[in-house]
Amino acid sequence: MERLIVVSNRTPAQGERTQPAGGLTVGLHEVVQTRESLWFGWSGNQAEDADAKPVQVESGETVSYATFDLTPEQYERFYLNFSNGVLWPLCHYRTDLIRYWRADAEAYYAVNERFADRLLPYLRSDDTIWIHDYHLFPMGKRLRSRGVKGRIGFFLHIPFPPWSVARVLPGVDRLLESMTAYDRIGVQTHEDAENLRGCFAACGLEAVVEACPIGIEPESFRQTAISSAASDEVRKTLRSFDGHRFIIGVDRLDYSKGIPERLRGFARLLERYPQYCEQVTFLQVTPVSRAGVESYRALKQQIDELVGSINGAHGTAAWTPVRYTTHGLAREDLAGLYRHADIGLVTPRRDGMNLVAKEFIAAQDENDPGVLILSRLAGAAPDLVKALQVNPLDTDGIADALHTGLSMDRKARHEAWSVMYGEVTRNTAGSWAKQFLDSLEMATT
Ligand code: F6P
Repeated sequence: MERLIVVSNRTPAQGERTQPAGGLTVGLHEVVQTRESLWFGWSGNQAEDADAKPVQVESGETVSYATFDLTPEQYERFYLNFSNGVLWPLCHYRTDLIRYWRADAEAYYAVNERFADRLLPYLRSDDTIWIHDYHLFPMGKRLRSRGVKGRIGFFLHIPFPPWSVARVLPGVDRLLESMTAYDRIGVQTHEDAENLRGCFAACGLEAVVEACPIGIEPESFRQTAISSAASDEVRKTLRSFDGHRFIIGVDRLDYSKGIPERLRGFARLLERYPQYCEQVTFLQVTPVSRAGVESYRALKQQIDELVGSINGAHGTAAWTPVRYTTHGLAREDLAGLYRHADIGLVTPRRDGMNLVAKEFIAAQDENDPGVLILSRLAGAAPDLVKALQVNPLDTDGIADALHTGLSMDRKARHEAWSVMYGEVTRNTAGSWAKQFLDSLEMATT
């Protein structure tokens, strides 16, 4: 089997390499363990002299890591301003949040060239190269222009909008043209695939696009949930609920995740169904993300205020309705908490896939599973049809789903959960990677 080169902007941090935390790194972790691989990308660090510093290589038995720093200016223009201030809102249908500057676009292309140029010395002619996510759309084209002839695939972990939205981006044709360098492009859903094909067609371009939904490794996550369900940290949190039932939400602090909408839905539940007051607590875990982008800072302020106003309006001296933290929790503690939660509340306004939804299902106790409430605008929605699906903008709809979920008997919960667990175990991180890499191989033989 040829060596696999995985390229992504974010690589698992050193301490996370045995158990990565983010969606993309979780999905890729499995595939790199099973064949000779090199994982190449940003170190997560900035340095004024980054361009002069060599790539840092850590060789491992199966997987090796090669990472490099960005200069503060590259970090700002490439990562914050263009990737997360233009492409992220565009792909999540939030053109109102785009802040476009030509200098940032040029820096984005220049950093993509740098990714390619820095990778070149490590490449062998028979490597399979797999590039990931919107930070690196044009990287394949640079590799081709530097003479790379082998297989290059690309996978987009976030949604892709239709032409009517995508065309808002200045220079969208240049971006799409650069993507024709790939032998195969994978996206999360059929809708994304249709959208991207439509964009290529609108620009008179051709590329092979395939829907290939990512999964998790459910068995190992289930084992983690079982073993940490009684850990000190999880027990401490459960004790603090004082016997109340609880709802859990876990997301990076991002406007695509629908956190204010979800908080309003919970507040509406308390207004319309006051029997839940002092009986149900909502735990929202929201690690701060991309705080250098204005729209993220504004969102944080909005959520801080909303949590305060809900707790002020509905809380009592003895009960805080919303528990909210902007610190991340360890992955095993989250798994343990999912297992105890009555409801997993996952309501993105748009999401490529959303692996929290799949992890919540994997973590449940099959004898007494919790209920998943899921946005119909998450990429996971077509796979998890037995979730209570909601429109994330419908505050009353979220309140109703919460009421339904909290009222479901064990039999109904088990029926829905077992169908979803079947789906989560059928379509795993391993099968996702295999499906994509097999079709990349077919495209080039
Ligand atoms: O899955 C989408 C994604 O943007 C990944 O590419 C990224 O690593 C992850 O979310 C977390 O975002 P960030 O790297 O900006 O913290």
